[in-house]
Amino acid sequence: MTAPREVVRRILADRTDQPKGTAKVYVPANIALVKYWGKRDEALNLPVTGSLSVSLGPLGSHVELSRAAGPADEIRLNGAHLPADGSFAKRASAYLDLFRPRDFFFAVQARNTVPTAAGFASSASGFAALAKAADALFGWGLAPRELSILARLGSGSAARSLADGFVEWHAGQAADGMDSYAERVAAEWPELRVGALVLCAEEKPVGSRAGMKRCVETCEFYREWPARVARDLAELKAAIARKDFAALGAIAEGNALAMHALMAATRPPLLYALPETVAAMRTIWAVRATGLPLWFTMDAGPNVKLLFEAKDEARVREMFPGIDVVAPFG
Ligand code: DP6
Repeated sequence: MTAPREVVRRILADRTDQPKGTAKVYVPANIALVKYWGKRDEALNLPVTGSLSVSLGPLGSHVELSRAAGPADEIRLNGAHLPADGSFAKRASAYLDLFRPRDFFFAVQARNTVPTAAGFASSASGFAALAKAADALFGWGLAPRELSILARLGSGSAARSLADGFVEWHAGQAADGMDSYAERVAAEWPELRVGALVLCAEEKPVGSRAGMKRCVETCEFYREWPARVARDLAELKAAIARKDFAALGAIAEGNALAMHALMAATRPPLLYALPETVAAMRTIWAVRATGLPLWFTMDAGPNVKLLFEAKDEARVREMFPGIDVVAPFG
């Protein structure tokens, strides 16, 4: 098994680690249309299957990275200083250890425009932003594929947050994961809209990491998942290529529900939906039955992301007042 540090050593090779002032970066969050759920290597966040997401434009993470005086990293999130022993600061510092020069402390200023830990993949944009900021701070000039691999070491879904638009993460087969990276799918879809329906912004009881591990270990149906994802990925890419919105919506919604079915059959069970989540799903189905092409997806949390097209935005907003609407293609 390859250790994360060894992967970083191979990627950085003989690059220097002299910091250059302050690096400021922005990285969008992403929402998977075909999900990543289950790992073949936990240390490197290597997935069992590929996945395909859409980046969320202005919803994401701003990170400023510079050198701190020490004797510890200084981490601020949305303006508040985080205690070094809190879970977020610990995870960020452990990740920065991968790139830390000798006797070096980082000052991190992170600002999320997505609610943290509420199923809106703020960890994805957070780790991707840290990787991109480290690249800028140390002037490594890494290629997109290398940056995606570094981001993955922080959180799997972070591998998909370094590009805009549709992004495919290739599962890869290599033990060191050098072939497991994400890249942009060559397609534009200016009419596509993603609506973020926040039903609960509290931290979820079981995070994705622990949840997918428990699912792989105890869900007897998990063995069906890789074939399902392979089919969904092939069909989604074809739907994107021919700009078939009904097909995109059906594949994304079906894939999310299949993942939540695996979660329900996990022991002990994982049930992320709240009564409000189920009510929203039923409203979406009822609306769709009237002829409005509205679909949804959801991650390991109770919040729902609506998928629709620009022409229907006013009607969707009427039905779901207060949603944040994103145009992933500007
Ligand atoms: C349900 O990327 O948060 O959102 O790799 O352990 O950090 P780790 O997991 P994470 O899992 C995301 C799971 C998901 C589906 C997806 O984003 O594809």
